[in-house]
Amino acid sequence: MYVCVCAGVTDVQIREAIAAGDHSLKALRDSLGIAHNCGMCVKDTRQIMDETLRINAAAYLATELVATHAAPQQQAA
Ligand code: FES
Repeated sequence: MYVCVCAGVTDVQIREAIAAGDHSLKALRDSLGIAHNCGMCVKDTRQIMDETLRINAAAYLATELVATHAAPQQQAA
């Protein structure tokens, strides 16, 4: 889905840029060229960024939790 019509940027491109390290609106603006014209994309971009970072943080914590709880079992075997 197009998020920034002015720059022709989709939600997938925004999520890929976030995964590549663009963790702020300014970073996304610089890398993708969004929000340079009418600004109608800012709200949706922030929503995608918040959602993506929240999912990534939850996945990281789940991985750490599994690693923490798996380690004693691996040592006992
Ligand atoms: S829709 Fe993004 S600047 Fe216009």
